Amino acid sequence: MSKIISIHSFRGGTGKSNVTANLATNLARTGHRVAIVDTDIQSPGIHVPFGLDESKVKFTLNDYLWGKCSIDAATYDVSSVFTTRQKSGWFQQNRGKIYLIPSSIKTGEISKILREGYDARLLNEGFRHLMQKLQLDYLFIDTHPGINEETLLSVIISDILIVILRPDKQDYQGTAVTVDVARKLDVPKMMLVVNKALPSLNTEVLKRQVEEIYRVPVAGVLPVSEEMFHLASSDIFCLRYPDHPWTKVINSIADNLRDTNQAAKKTFSFPGKR
Ligand SMILES: Nc1ncnc2c1ncn2[C@@H]1O[C@H](COP(=O)(O)OP(=O)(O)OP(=O)(O)O)[C@@H](O)[C@H]1O
Ligand SMILES: [Mg+2]
Repeated sequence: MSKIISIHSFRGGTGKSNVTANLATNLARTGHRVAIVDTDIQSPGIHVPFGLDESKVKFTLNDYLWGKCSIDAATYDVSSVFTTRQKSGWFQQNRGKIYLIPSSIKTGEISKILREGYDARLLNEGFRHLMQKLQLDYLFIDTHPGINEETLLSVIISDILIVILRPDKQDYQGTAVTVDVARKLDVPKMMLVVNKALPSLNTEVLKRQVEEIYRVPVAGVLPVSEEMFHLASSDIFCLRYPDHPWTKVINSIADNLRDTNQAAKKTFSFPGKR
């Protein structure tokens, strides 16, 4: 069963794209088929850690939304990011894949789509098509921060919403708005992820505090990391630093997503039996 997972935050720069890229890589490395759609049309970026530069991109999500190409033509297999680096001892699975549907980084194309808009139903149709055609286990939506049309659409069609926040008062306020909207839209499962937490903070206490504020489970508390600053989105962090505390939290969030999907499969396979 495919799961649609939206990664969102009220404010920008919380780590959505890096968390999405790393969760997707973790799941693909263990044999899952994953796609990432960059719906951050205004400021796309997730193609960067996957090394998908302009010269390799003929069509983007924008072209699909303008009816210029099929969604397949705007889909790029970026699995080489992990397949070329399989080391001995790493769990190898041929089925695992990562596909990326990037947004355009051409200024003219960004302003055109913002000015003229697009048919949101096409986005949903494209997702459904990809899930079937690529036999996806997970489809990630990397969103633009704040509450806008794309966010609402992605929340409505998601099985799981992951909201990322930093331990920062402005983030706390904005997250309350996002959680409220998601509840009103009846998203089936919501989880919070705290990123850029100072390593000196007591993560268990922070987790409990955040859970009490929002009444939403915290899937993980990711530390602020100097290595992440140095990497500057030039690579997939968990591949470069497999033993780093940040990677360990990502691994546990990915385990949580795998468990959720397994539970859904069981319910699906044996309806009525418990
Ligand atoms: N735990 C961390 N420690 C240090 N730097 C981090 C951490 N997480 C993310 N970053 C850095 O923060 C910046 C923003 O990260 P990222 O692009 O993933 O966020 P985003 O939420 O997708 O941003 P935007 O809202 O602009 O799309 C990047 O430079 C990234 O390297
Ligand atoms: Mg981003």
